[in-house]
Amino acid sequence: MIYRLPQLEDEGIIRDYVKEHYENGETSISASHGLTSSEYGQWVERINRNALTGDKDFGKSLLLLCFDEDRLIGLLSIRYDLPQELSHTIGDIGYGVRPSERNKGYATAMLKYALGVCREKGMTKVILGCFKDNIASVKTIIKNGGVLICENDNFIKGRISQYYIIELTSS
Ligand SMILES: CC(C)(COP(=O)(O)OP(=O)(O)OC[C@H]1O[C@@H](n2cnc3c(N)ncnc32)[C@H](O)[C@@H]1OP(=O)(O)O)[C@@H](O)C(=O)NCCC(=O)NCCS
Repeated sequence: MIYRLPQLEDEGIIRDYVKEHYENGETSISASHGLTSSEYGQWVERINRNALTGDKDFGKSLLLLCFDEDRLIGLLSIRYDLPQELSHTIGDIGYGVRPSERNKGYATAMLKYALGVCREKGMTKVILGCFKDNIASVKTIIKNGGVLICENDNFIKGRISQYYIIELTSS
C-alpha cells in the first residue's frame, strides 16, 4: 500500500470516498480530522501544517491517505505527539476503510503500518480506543497485539468504549 498526506489535487477522489460512506448510510468519516466540516483547501492546509509544525492541542499528527495501487482505500490518523490525557481519551491512532473495501484485511495492514511509524517516532506504546460493539475494529486492534486495559461509557453514554494498549518492541 501507499501512504501519503492529502494534496489539493486529491479533492475528487476524497469526495468520492465520502460519497460512498453517505450512500452506505454512514454519517461520519472516521479518522478524517474534520474533513466534512471544513472547506477542502483549508483542510489540506491544516493537515499538512499539523504534520510539519503541529497543533497547539494535539501536537504533531499525520493524516494519511491509504492507497492500493491508485484506489483510495482508507484514512489513517497517527497522533504520535498527543498529551497523555488525550492519548487515553481519543487514542493515538484512528482509521477508517471505505465500505466497499472492508473485510479484506486493509485496516489490519494500516494499523500495522501506523505502529511502525509510532515506533520510528520513538514511542514505546500506543493507546487505542474503540467502541466495544465495533467488532471489526476490536479484532483489528487485537490482531495487532492490543491488550484491553479498561472500558467505560464516559465518551457516549450507553455505548461502551474500550481502550487497548499495544507495546512497541524495537524489532
Ligand atoms: C473498523 C474498520 C476500519 C475495519 O476495517 P477492515 O478493513 O474491514 O478490517 P480487516 O479487513 O482488517 O478485518 C479485521 C478483522 O475484523 C473482522 N471483520 C471485518 N469486518 C467485520 C464485520 N463487519 N463484522 C465482524 N468482523 C469483521 C475481519 O474478519 C478481521 O478479523 P479476522 O482476521 O479474525 O477474520 C472498518 O469496518 C471501518 O472503516 N468501519 C467504520 C469506521 C470505524 O469504525 N473505524 C474505527 C473506529 S475505532
